[in-house]
Amino acid sequence: MKSVKLIATNHAVPARVVTNDDLTAWLDTSDEWITTRTGIKQRHVSTGENTAALALAASRPALEAAGWDPESLDLIIVATMTPDDYMPSTAAQVQGALGASRAVAFDLSAACSGFVYALTVARQMLAAPGCRRALVIGAEVMSKVLDWQDRSTAVLFGDGAGAALLEATAEDHLWVSRLATFGDQGHDLTAGKTTVTAALPHPVSDLAPLTMDGRSTYRFATHQVPASIQDTLAAAGISPDEVDHYLLHQANARIVRQVAKRLDQPLEKFPLNIARYGNTAAASEPILLDEQIKAGAIKRGDLLVLSGFGGGLTTASIVMQY
Ligand code: UT7
Repeated sequence: MKSVKLIATNHAVPARVVTNDDLTAWLDTSDEWITTRTGIKQRHVSTGENTAALALAASRPALEAAGWDPESLDLIIVATMTPDDYMPSTAAQVQGALGASRAVAFDLSAACSGFVYALTVARQMLAAPGCRRALVIGAEVMSKVLDWQDRSTAVLFGDGAGAALLEATAEDHLWVSRLATFGDQGHDLTAGKTTVTAALPHPVSDLAPLTMDGRSTYRFATHQVPASIQDTLAAAGISPDEVDHYLLHQANARIVRQVAKRLDQPLEKFPLNIARYGNTAAASEPILLDEQIKAGAIKRGDLLVLSGFGGGLTTASIVMQY
């Protein structure tokens, strides 16, 4: 095997749309503040769909489009920071529901960098003999980890899932990534913190909602994302000008514009869909990728950079030929 080919993509979001104006019913916020600070106009919010259900809804049509029998899958990775259960993993639930009985399946936790982390792990596993086909999913129900009374975070996130099918190939599709972890800054973005005390029996723990130091995370993103992309392009021997599309994690439209500026690249290369979905964490990049492919903006042969950043803290970039 020489490389990996991206065969098909798809995405799914809950039907319910919550607009910025809807949020003003209980939050001291405004459409004007949210739009100017973030670029978000609305988000999709679960009405009961769990993470595995969104992952499945994203995956099934991709398998159909590719004409792949689920039994032909060797690997399923779900990147998520909002699994439905501690166990079984979301990926195991997807594997069972698809009837992908030959596939090994596991979750990967790297927050908003999760999809690119998962693509990278899948690429390594597909290098092994006997592992040919992978389903890589980013899926989140962020709405269940938010404090809906906290205007500084509740307005930012949305729910959704995106899926990508990868196949080992003898062709050269270029697939170079650089991952990084900044664990000493992990306190800037947290969700689901659990605590145990010495006393027994331990109470069943309640999960703490998402917290974020917005300004610190903003600084992190605008400095570390360009560095991550530059490292990746240097490792691949490609100049920023040669890249056709930069698909950045959709956390804030202002961050995307800053990164474009630092890379000295035209904004037209940086598609945005944050207005419609908000920040869907690990799902944001596969949703954007799928939309751009389906719209015909990304064509076979184009050079793509996908770059994620967030909880951990983490960064992750990959350059690939579609
Ligand atoms: O995917 C994970 C990675 N996440 C990110 O990359 C997010 C990075 N950070 C950001 O995108 C931005 O920091 C935010 C969008 C989260 C916040 O924007 P900001 O320009 O940094 O605003 P701020 O936090 O400095 O807050 C400015 C003001 C504050 O009021 P005072 O202290 O100036 O009086 C906030 O209390 O805006 C206030 N504020 C709001 N006002 C209306 C905070 N949230 C809201 C709100 N509506 N929803």
